[in-house]
Amino acid sequence: MNKKIIVGITGGIAAYKIPQLIRLFTKNGDEVKVVATKNALQFVTPLTLETVSGNAVYSDVFAPKNEYSTEHIALADWADMIVVAPSTANIIGKFASGIADDALSTLLLAFAKDIVVCPAMNTNMYNSPVVQENLNCLKDKGVNILSPAEGELACGTSGVGRMPEPEEIFEFAEAVFTKKLSMSGKTVLVTAGPTYERIDSVRFIGNFSTGKMGFAVAEELAERGAKVILVAGPTSLTAKHRNIKQINIESAREMYKACIETFPSCNAAILSAAVADYRPETVADHKIKKAAGTENLDIHLVQNPDILATLGKMKTDRQLLVGFALETDNELENAKAKLTRKNLDMIVLNSLKDKGAGFGHDTNKVTIITADGTVREGSLKSKADVAKDIVDMIGQ
Ligand code: CTP
Repeated sequence: MNKKIIVGITGGIAAYKIPQLIRLFTKNGDEVKVVATKNALQFVTPLTLETVSGNAVYSDVFAPKNEYSTEHIALADWADMIVVAPSTANIIGKFASGIADDALSTLLLAFAKDIVVCPAMNTNMYNSPVVQENLNCLKDKGVNILSPAEGELACGTSGVGRMPEPEEIFEFAEAVFTKKLSMSGKTVLVTAGPTYERIDSVRFIGNFSTGKMGFAVAEELAERGAKVILVAGPTSLTAKHRNIKQINIESAREMYKACIETFPSCNAAILSAAVADYRPETVADHKIKKAAGTENLDIHLVQNPDILATLGKMKTDRQLLVGFALETDNELENAKAKLTRKNLDMIVLNSLKDKGAGFGHDTNKVTIITADGTVREGSLKSKADVAKDIVDMIGQ
C-alpha cells in the first residue's frame, strides 16, 4: 500500500501481461511509473501502459519530453522498489555486468533499494551457465529473483522459463517489501562458526561447525533491512550482503571481546557460534615435539568466558537475546533450563539425532523455545528457511 513502484519491462512476449500487473499495484493503492526498453514496446503499447499506470512511460534517456536531464536519478530517488518483468537474459546480463546503455539498465545501477527481477525466457537460455551465473551474481548483491514457472513457452516448446502470472509477481513484490521493512532500523549481532583454541604454533582445539546456520541468519536479517554485525570464527564463508559487517576472529576470547564491545549498540543478538568451552592454559610458541620416553601428552584446559551468559547479564529491557543449544539427552528440559539460566528471550534447540541436521549440512531441524514457554518444533528444512523462522519469531 502506498508504495512507489517502477515497473521495468523488457522485450519478451510476457510483456503483454504487464498492464495487468500494473493494475494490481494501482488497485492496492501503489503508484506506478513504467520504464520500458525499446523492444518491450514492440509487445505492449505506450498508450496502454500510460492508461493503466496514469503516468508517462520512460524509454529513451535522451527524449526531449523528459522533465529532468538526469531522469534516471530522479526516478531512482522517487521509487521504493523496481520490479523488472519480464526480465530477458539481456537485461539480467547487463545488470550483472554493470552495463548502462538505455533508460532501464541505467536506472537499475542508480537504484539502491529493493529490486525484483522476474526472468522469463526459453528453457535452454534460462539453464545456460552464463545466465545462471548472472542470476547468482545478482542474488548475492541482494536482488530478489522470482524463479520462472514451468509450462508452454512462446517458442513452441514446454519447460521452465515462463514468467509467473501477474498475481504471483504482485504477491512476491509485496512479500519482499513488507519483509524488508520488518527489520529496518535495527542492528543485530550474530555469532557463527567454530572457535579455534591454540595448543602450539601449528595445532588447535576446534569443532566441526561450518558457520552455515549463523551466516543464513545474518543473510536473512540483512534481507529484511537490519544492519548485521557478524562475528565469525574460522570458516570458509564470506557474507556478501551489503548490510552485513563481518568481523573474523579465531578464539573464544576474541569472540567474547568483539561481542561485549558490540552488544550495547544492538537491538538483538543471536549467538549461533559453537564456542569452545575450554582452551589450553598455555600456548607453546613453537611446535610441540614428541617427547622421548613417554607415550602421553597432557594438555591442561581452562574454561573460556561464556559469551551468551555475559550478554544475558548485560541485556536491557529493549534488547532481545537468542541462544542456541546443542543437546544429546533430555534435550527440551536442558534447553529450557539454559534459557532461564542465561536470561534469554529465545533458544534454538539443534537436533543432532535427525539425518541431515546439524554441522556441515545445508539443512537443519530445530525446536524454538521462547521465554513465555512456547515450544515450536520445526521440520527438516534448508538452513535459509530455518533462518526465516528464527527471524520471524524475533520480529514478532
Ligand atoms: N556459548 C557462548 N559462549 C561460550 C559457550 C557457548 O556464547 N563460551 C553459546 C553458544 O553460542 C550457544 C549457547 O551458548 O548459543 C549454547 O552452547 P552449548 O555449548 O550448547 O551450551 P553451554 O552453555 O556450553 O552448556 P553445556 O556445555 O553445559 O551444554
